[in-house]
Amino acid sequence: MNKVLVSLLLTLSMTSLAQAAGNAEAGQGKVIVCGACHSPDGNSAVPTFPKLAGQGERYLLKQLYDIKTGARPIVEMTGLLDNMSDQDLKDISAYYASQKMTVGAADPKLAARGAELFRGGKLEEGMPACIGCHAPNGAGLAAAGYPKLGGQHAAYIAKQLTDFREGNRTNDGDSMIMRSIAAKLSNKDMEAVASYIQGLH
Ligand code: HEC
Ligand code: HEC
Repeated sequence: MNKVLVSLLLTLSMTSLAQAAGNAEAGQGKVIVCGACHSPDGNSAVPTFPKLAGQGERYLLKQLYDIKTGARPIVEMTGLLDNMSDQDLKDISAYYASQKMTVGAADPKLAARGAELFRGGKLEEGMPACIGCHAPNGAGLAAAGYPKLGGQHAAYIAKQLTDFREGNRTNDGDSMIMRSIAAKLSNKDMEAVASYIQGLH
């Protein structure tokens, strides 16, 4: 392809990205009701309510679509997104993504086993390491929609892994990546890796 065409295509795709993006400032005004559970800045104080602050924008938006359509059922959020437009969901995602996630602490008794799983996986069982997609520091890969995990509440992480394993959360796509990974994790593994993640940054 010639250079002019390439830069034209780049400009076009950047323009459509700019139009698609959410507005964090507008989003702040749309999350009042969410703050009751997720806290106003997205650093929820309740361990089973996920922190949203600093989470990747693309991941957040996908979850909001999935929650709204019922692809990811969340009883606590029933009806909350029904009257929100696509733009509302984009603004909300931009707002939380612009905040900073706080970090918790790992249980020292679980951290070593958790680190082993997070960084090394269970290669003998064909389970890849978490760092491959969620990054060594747990920051995830925002552009690809791989969620940030580092600092997230351990209780929430363990519940998600259990939900993936038991088939209660099925919105990880046709590749079923998280369902197949969680299938290889025992309850003890989940507890250890979740504790490690809570202190990771
Ligand atoms: C009554 C409590 C409650 C309220 C209010 C609430 N949520 Fe939630 N939210 C939850 C719970 C609980 C979960 C996790 C459920 C689970 O275990 O999968 C969740 C999950 C999420 C997730 C997925 C996070 C992740 O890491 O995958 C997003 C995004 C989210 N909520 C956004 C919102 C927004 C935006 C609002 C306001 C419009 C809102 N929530 C209001 C309780 C609440
Ligand atoms: C090949 C890539 C890949 C690997 C390896 C991987 N994950 Fe994931 N993970 C994902 C993707 C993609 C999602 C988002 C799924 C969705 O869109 O709902 C996800 C979601 C999650 C979630 C839900 C986050 C939230 O906020 O609700 C948890 C928890 C999680 N992964 C933990 C792990 C752990 C622990 C490991 C290692 C044992 C691991 N993942 C390995 C790609 C991966």
